Amino acid sequence: MNHHPPDQARSPQPPHVAFVGRANIDITVRIPQRPVPGRTTFASSPATTTPGGKSLNQALAARQAGARTSLISNVGDDEWGIFLNRALTDAAVDVSHFRLVPSAPTGIAIIEVTPDGENYIVLARPPKTELTGEHVRSALRQLRAPTVVTQLDLQPEAVDAVFQHHDAGTLIGNLVPHPTLGATALAPLDLFVSNEAEAAAILGRHHADPSIAAQELRKLGPRAVVLTVGARGAVYSDADHTALVPAQHVNAINTSGAGDAFLGTLAARLAHKVPLTHAVAEGVTAATTFVRVGGRQ
Ligand SMILES: Nc1ncnc2c1ncn2[C@@H]1O[C@H](COP(=O)(O)OP(=O)(O)O)[C@@H](O)[C@H]1O
Ligand SMILES: [Mg+2]
Repeated sequence: MNHHPPDQARSPQPPHVAFVGRANIDITVRIPQRPVPGRTTFASSPATTTPGGKSLNQALAARQAGARTSLISNVGDDEWGIFLNRALTDAAVDVSHFRLVPSAPTGIAIIEVTPDGENYIVLARPPKTELTGEHVRSALRQLRAPTVVTQLDLQPEAVDAVFQHHDAGTLIGNLVPHPTLGATALAPLDLFVSNEAEAAAILGRHHADPSIAAQELRKLGPRAVVLTVGARGAVYSDADHTALVPAQHVNAINTSGAGDAFLGTLAARLAHKVPLTHAVAEGVTAATTFVRVGGRQ
């Protein structure tokens, strides 16, 4: 990955990772099977209400993995926005660029979890809380975090602002890029991280062998690719190696957010200058623990 000045490596401060993307409320219910049209499915009660959203989850995981962490994101100025701000502050995530947008609602995800731990997610995403290029630009300029992790499905101006900022640090992207950007959004990245479904959406076909998919994604320009493959673990591919890091077999209670636990941990470890192979292994361990215990503790 990238090289930082030696004085930073010697610094007693933990490495700083900035996350650019979404935060929302997760309302999670456990259901015996997927709902069918026109029939009510009864969930186990109560539903749980927790902080969520890709970048928020990743930031909390990175914080837990020992990084200094900032979240650049927007929510509404409603009670949910205040709740999220408090949760981040309690976890010691920097919220100096986490904005509560006046008279906007906070996004809400409805998450249904079936007994096999699989999850089905619907996200109500308010347009008013989409990140703007200006917000991202000024936040990154002020934070000067050497490692930046961005969702690629944000509005193109927000993703472009991340790319323009990209100077000496490590740039990590995840998710299927916004259609306007398409696969070209992978080219500026030091590392692209996705799950198998996202990889298939980008490549336009599913590869049974995730190593092939990772190598195909790398041809789109990122210096390295990591593909998470659920219970099988994760595959990484860089200029030197392509290999599978297997996950331990566990009884999955809830897999929702596992990919974020993985990426937050991976980013924190890479920021600590841990080599990619080991950072991926630590990400797999953290994510496997996450699904075994049923979420963030
Ligand atoms: N059923 C499972 N058993 C063990 N580990 C799992 C399981 N599902 C996910 N994981 C862990 O979480 C990581 C991410 O999961 P994955 O399903 O690939 O992503 P996503 O959360 O995007 O669906 C995997 O690399 C693995 O470490
Ligand atoms: Mg999964």
